[in-house]
Amino acid sequence: METPTDTSAPTADIAEPAATAQPTVPAQATAPEPATAPAKAEGREEPAESAEPTPAADVSEPAEAAEASEPADASEVSQPADASDASDASEPADAAEAADASQPATAPEPATAPEPATAPEPADLADPRFWQLPAADRAAAFEELRRRPGPVFFGDRATGRGFHALVRHADVVEASRTPAVFLSGPGVTTPAPARWVRLLFGDSMVNLDDPRHAQLRRIVSRAFTPRLLDRVEEDVRRISTELVDRIERERPEDFVSAVAAELPFQVICTMMGIPERTRRAILDLVNRSSEDIGVARPLRRRFRAPGRGLRALGRMQGIVAGIGRERRRRPEEDLISALVTADLDGRRLTGRELGAFFSLLLVAGVETTRNALAHGLHLLTVHPEQRALLLDDLDGRLGGAVDEMIRHATPIIQFNRTLAVDHELGGTGGTLLRAGEKVALFYGSANRDEVVFPDPDAFDITRTPNPHLGFGGGGPHYCLGAHLAQQEMTALFRELFTRLPEARSVGEPQLVPSSFDHRVRSLRFTF
Ligand code: HEM
Repeated sequence: METPTDTSAPTADIAEPAATAQPTVPAQATAPEPATAPAKAEGREEPAESAEPTPAADVSEPAEAAEASEPADASEVSQPADASDASDASEPADAAEAADASQPATAPEPATAPEPATAPEPADLADPRFWQLPAADRAAAFEELRRRPGPVFFGDRATGRGFHALVRHADVVEASRTPAVFLSGPGVTTPAPARWVRLLFGDSMVNLDDPRHAQLRRIVSRAFTPRLLDRVEEDVRRISTELVDRIERERPEDFVSAVAAELPFQVICTMMGIPERTRRAILDLVNRSSEDIGVARPLRRRFRAPGRGLRALGRMQGIVAGIGRERRRRPEEDLISALVTADLDGRRLTGRELGAFFSLLLVAGVETTRNALAHGLHLLTVHPEQRALLLDDLDGRLGGAVDEMIRHATPIIQFNRTLAVDHELGGTGGTLLRAGEKVALFYGSANRDEVVFPDPDAFDITRTPNPHLGFGGGGPHYCLGAHLAQQEMTALFRELFTRLPEARSVGEPQLVPSSFDHRVRSLRFTF
């Protein structure tokens, strides 16, 4: 079978840095919200360049432009995005064009048609404007999609550009757990990283299939053994205590920059053994290399200009590789030492692999956890009865509350897979997916699947069971940091509510429209 090379994935905004897939959260203006949902068929013309049928996706811009318009917020730990820019030269010029490019090859509806005989067109998930709609409208669109008999295809099936939207729990689980059919290698995000970026910076495990995926995962799993995580737990508690100390001392207004972004960044740096004095420089480089992918922006700012961000990423990885060399000579009690001194399948991790792994942890572990924490505080604020329930029995209910926060908020909206062979989804007689086609695994929609979750929109910290797919649908790529993320959220909320039981958000969170993740830029809070 030929390896599909089409990179026109359904997802958005993921910038793939050296070694990962997560999007960045740069400080950028967000697009205005359109009043209505873009329908799938609007009688548009096929654009000349339909390279990227991704929603809100891949929209990026030169780092310079981003910085000129709004300085990066040092508090926002974002991943080095530029690496992926480089991969994507062909970009639809603006949101409307991107929307057009992603349209399915269905005939436009005649203007005079009274009532269509068939079901109405679903909202267009491939249209960047869809991801700027209010959350309730997007949720309603997914609810409607879940009621359909099979996945809807968005894009142009004839050219192979587009994706089947997997919106049901069972479908996301099937795709996640059948890795020989649903490949990650062609890229789980859009745009896929350019070959030279992959070569230069190393491949991310999220974009690998077996046997390379299994080999790399075995190596990096050393960071997540129960023994190591036990040790990390102490650090997580200590850092949570320090953060709450700081809240009391400095009374910051923004929960995201003061707490939610800080905790996972400090935890990962501590795990790796990054010296305190180097951390700010790393954070600064990470921020410089990032940009707002996934956010629809005006035409003039939709050009990619790789270079500066990539250089920042390279420098950041260079620093980490340097620490690696030092630890190889004089090992300490940290993960970098463990990774560079251990004999792994007959070899050692190279400096480049170490840098790539560190980037992966930063982008996969910081952004997600930060968004989960911010959504979590807000959910508890707007559901006072759940908050009271939690505070009544913090130890007994915190684990369930954290799971429910992740289900309800679903920090990562989607990842993609590419079909290795023809496949009938759901078994014989199911929807035929063809080799080379892409599917988008919509975790947020799966987490509201009424077949699995009674009253799925309710935020219920006592929900049992809670088989949410916030960390993925199982299978070989299941989130490596799931346990760590839960540890961090549990420790932080325990410390916060034990010492400051009045802590709550004020007003609405500042969200960043994205088709990839549920980003919170800032969240005011009080205590
Ligand atoms: C609430 C926080 C988090 C959420 C919601 C989350 C979610 C996810 C999701 C949905 C995936 C893809 C799973 C799949 O494709 O089947 C993933 C993969 C991954 N996550 Fe997380 N994650 C979180 C925290 C973390 C943390 C703290 C780390 C590490 C420090 C981490 C490291 C990774 C890695 C390395 C992968 C790729 C695994 C592979 O491809 O084998 N994540 N995560």
